[in-house]
Amino acid sequence: MAQLWGGRFTKKTDELVYNFNASITFDRKFYEQDIRGSRAHVSMLAKQGILTREEAAVIDEGLASILRDVREGTLAITEEYEDIHSFVEAVLTERVGEAGKKLHTGRSRNDQVALDMKLYVRDELDETRELLVRLLDAVLTIMKENTHTFMPGFTHLQKAQPVTLAHHLGAYFEMFRRDTERLTDIRRRMNLCPLGAGALAGTTYPLDRAYTAELLGFDGPTRNSMDSVSDRDYVIELLSAFSTVMMHLSRFSEEIILWNSNEYRFVEIDDSYSTGSSIMPQKKNPDIAELVRGKTGRVYGALMSILTTMKGIPLAYNKDMQEDKELTFDAIDTVKGCIALFTGMLCSMRFNKEIMERSACRGFTNATDAADYLVNRGVPFRDAHGIVGRLVLTCIDRGISLDELPMEEYKKESEVFGEDIYEAISLKTCVEKRMTYGAPGPEMMERVIREYEDYMRQNRKTAAEGGHENE
Ligand code: ARG
Repeated sequence: MAQLWGGRFTKKTDELVYNFNASITFDRKFYEQDIRGSRAHVSMLAKQGILTREEAAVIDEGLASILRDVREGTLAITEEYEDIHSFVEAVLTERVGEAGKKLHTGRSRNDQVALDMKLYVRDELDETRELLVRLLDAVLTIMKENTHTFMPGFTHLQKAQPVTLAHHLGAYFEMFRRDTERLTDIRRRMNLCPLGAGALAGTTYPLDRAYTAELLGFDGPTRNSMDSVSDRDYVIELLSAFSTVMMHLSRFSEEIILWNSNEYRFVEIDDSYSTGSSIMPQKKNPDIAELVRGKTGRVYGALMSILTTMKGIPLAYNKDMQEDKELTFDAIDTVKGCIALFTGMLCSMRFNKEIMERSACRGFTNATDAADYLVNRGVPFRDAHGIVGRLVLTCIDRGISLDELPMEEYKKESEVFGEDIYEAISLKTCVEKRMTYGAPGPEMMERVIREYEDYMRQNRKTAAEGGHENE
């Protein structure tokens, strides 16, 4: 048992209590952030004359050596320490002696852990955003190649009207774009530094909080010390945004699973992203898409869990908040893994364009266009709807499509029909005439794709200009 406190205790901590309370098994995950925060803190203490320059230099070197050794695997973070903060301080003191004991001057583990968690979440948020941008790139690449790939659009999972593959994937581009922007938004709101808030009421040392905030890449210090140590809104916002990312990935996965089935055969998932069966030799299963869909529940669970944990906590810090870590770490690893794998699966997937197009020709996806043909020739839409409905029924009876229905059948329902009906309801016309902004008409789609390309360029430019630098 290595802990930072004990002076006022007359008994040893019960072992079960110690283990129940300890967080080292999981908070060791943010040792880098803990050390980064401590180095900024020490640099500020020296600047303010609270520590001497020499003491600060010794501590900083010690911290740098711990960071290096843990990274290289020569120093293990073992479970005899209560938490990562105790570990770092204990090893530091072992290595540099007396000066190490001054590290915690003007600081509490409450503002320290609030900082570590924020730094960790911010780092991971940036990485997740990067992965989303890569996914957007992958979607856009497929879109560009498929503005003329016709496929059925569905409502109620019934064929509805023809669209293109570019248009269908464009819907996912929009979703992932909103996800990306949500992360940017969260980052902006969370980017205030809690260090210096102390246990809850600040400190009496003349800390320069703006300085540490700047060193750590924050826009400034947090404005209320009690809120600083008890705010986990950004965790909730992150998990909420992540839940939405997973919901989108899950919907897309569901479609890919359907499309990859023997019944659809719209796509074929690459062998490298498929799995087999131990008993049925013919099987090639879409396990990756299923796992992404399945893991969505786990991320939703994390969101529910943190919301519930936070709801009864009085100000300021309470130990309940230690529960934020494992679920957040798990959700982050899950979401990052899912986005990366999904992107790989998508890039290597084969689209069976002929099958998609053939499918679009069946199922009366051009019935609305047949009705619109009549409307354009003066028939009220409601009457046109009835006429075409009856024609569809005839086609179903005879097992043919509207394109194959002979002219006399058309004429039986309405004299307005002429030979040009076949041209008007051809798949090509049906899609190409859909030219309103946001519709699948290839010309319109190409315009929207150009806008997406501008958006991606802007994204890359912001990233290159160090839009989110951390240190
Ligand atoms: N492990 C703790 C957490 O994750 C660190 C803060 C401890 N603060 C305290 N007052 N015991 O929240």
